[in-house]
Amino acid sequence: MQLSIFRGMRFVRLTDEHLIKPFNCGDEQKDLDLADFLVNNARLYAKERMGVTYLIEDDNETVCYCTVLNDKISMSVDEKHIWNRINRKINNGKRRKSYPAIKIGCLATNIHYTKMGFATKLVDFVRQYLLSDRQFSGCRFITIDAYNDKNVLQFYENYGFRFFSEKDLTANTRSMYFDICG
Ligand SMILES: CC(C)(COP(=O)(O)OP(=O)(O)OC[C@H]1O[C@@H](n2cnc3c(N)ncnc32)[C@H](O)[C@@H]1OP(=O)(O)O)[C@@H](O)C(=O)NCCC(=O)NCCS
Repeated sequence: MQLSIFRGMRFVRLTDEHLIKPFNCGDEQKDLDLADFLVNNARLYAKERMGVTYLIEDDNETVCYCTVLNDKISMSVDEKHIWNRINRKINNGKRRKSYPAIKIGCLATNIHYTKMGFATKLVDFVRQYLLSDRQFSGCRFITIDAYNDKNVLQFYENYGFRFFSEKDLTANTRSMYFDICG
């Protein structure tokens, strides 16, 4: 599946041979987590079959990247109301206590390219892939452990992600889900 991006930019699936271009998140801590993951861990995750990384890059920099892996969402006994909301969209006879999902393990945009729609494009890519007729296996939800940061949470909420729990209100990251069928 291809992605429509600006002229001069490329959409790449990270391989062992690919030379990763500089990436700057613009935040010291996030750079430590996200830039470090890209440079030092993304290939290892691919090699161990634990995460596949997709990049948007131009000739000089990595513009945006995401890493995806399989996941599932499961009912939490304490937060049945959230599970009921999730279940309501599922055909009655097919309701379960867990559902297949894909996790966006990392998603980050280079500070020089924020607010230009790149992160949205990568989430769109994951969603379109899951909705395509060539689906390889069943997968209904996208999940993310989002940084508990107002702007980051706002980005995901605006996209349509919902909180999976209220227990992580003050945690470093918050679990969110997105139903690809709307
Ligand atoms: C959160 C993050 C991934 C968003 O990336 P981004 O590429 O800036 O996101 P987008 O450009 O797709 O969308 C951001 C906003 O810009 C807006 N936008 C998109 N295209 C735009 C354009 N051409 N002009 C102006 N605004 C635009 C979007 O509407 C969106 O607004 P919203 O949040 O109100 O919906 C990015 O800020 C980031 O990497 N932050 C640091 C790392 C991080 O915390 N990652 C999250 C880990 S969970």
